[in-house]
Amino acid sequence: MKNTLIAPSVLSADFANLQRDIEMINKSEADWFHIDIMDGVFVPNISFGMPVLGAITRHAKKTIDVHLMIVNPDQYIKTFAELGATNLTVHFEACTHLHRTLQAIKAEGMKAGVAINPHTNVSLLEDIINDIDLVCIMSVNPGFGGQSFIENTYAKVSQLKNIITKHNASTLIEIDGGVSDKNAAKLVTAGADVLVAGNYVFGSDNLVETIAGLKKITAL
Ligand code: DX5
Ligand code: ZN
Repeated sequence: MKNTLIAPSVLSADFANLQRDIEMINKSEADWFHIDIMDGVFVPNISFGMPVLGAITRHAKKTIDVHLMIVNPDQYIKTFAELGATNLTVHFEACTHLHRTLQAIKAEGMKAGVAINPHTNVSLLEDIINDIDLVCIMSVNPGFGGQSFIENTYAKVSQLKNIITKHNASTLIEIDGGVSDKNAAKLVTAGADVLVAGNYVFGSDNLVETIAGLKKITAL
């Protein structure tokens, strides 16, 4: 039976009650905290920065999965390590020297992730797949929570899974955007290992039960 990892996206939490929401994720079956950092340049939105991330990591008791939607991520790698990131994911489209960036992330003791926008073909990662701990396939255009899932994502997951298998890599496949009970099982069947869920989890009446439900329907 597959243990699909569930990563609630803190972007959809109640920021006026952030500690309460973090404690609820702590006591749930969620595996990771997914944390979106946006700079208003790479994406047309600004989320939050270092002080808020530091406050989250002080209370969160699970893997800290940081998704950087920023230009020039290299200059902040050390800071994110110091703030407690376990995984640091940069965007393929924001990195000119992606291989170098991944090595710099690992040198700070973090897992190195690469996120790809909906228009980016997974084949572009083939030459460095063995250097990537996590590929985050964006199933919406990055920048906002609560958007509709892009159906072409299933095909991208299958293609990426084939590349990973072909190169005998241990890379995890994460899906980010519009994930819910409607598409979770199909994504796992296609090869997904980690599902990010923002609006579906935080918009529900009972976060703990919603996460337990996702764990159950993805244990294929
Ligand atoms: C979008 C972010 C996502 C977002 C997902 O740019 O990267 O992590 O919070 O939210 P939902 O699950 O609501 O689409
Ligand atoms: Zn994200």
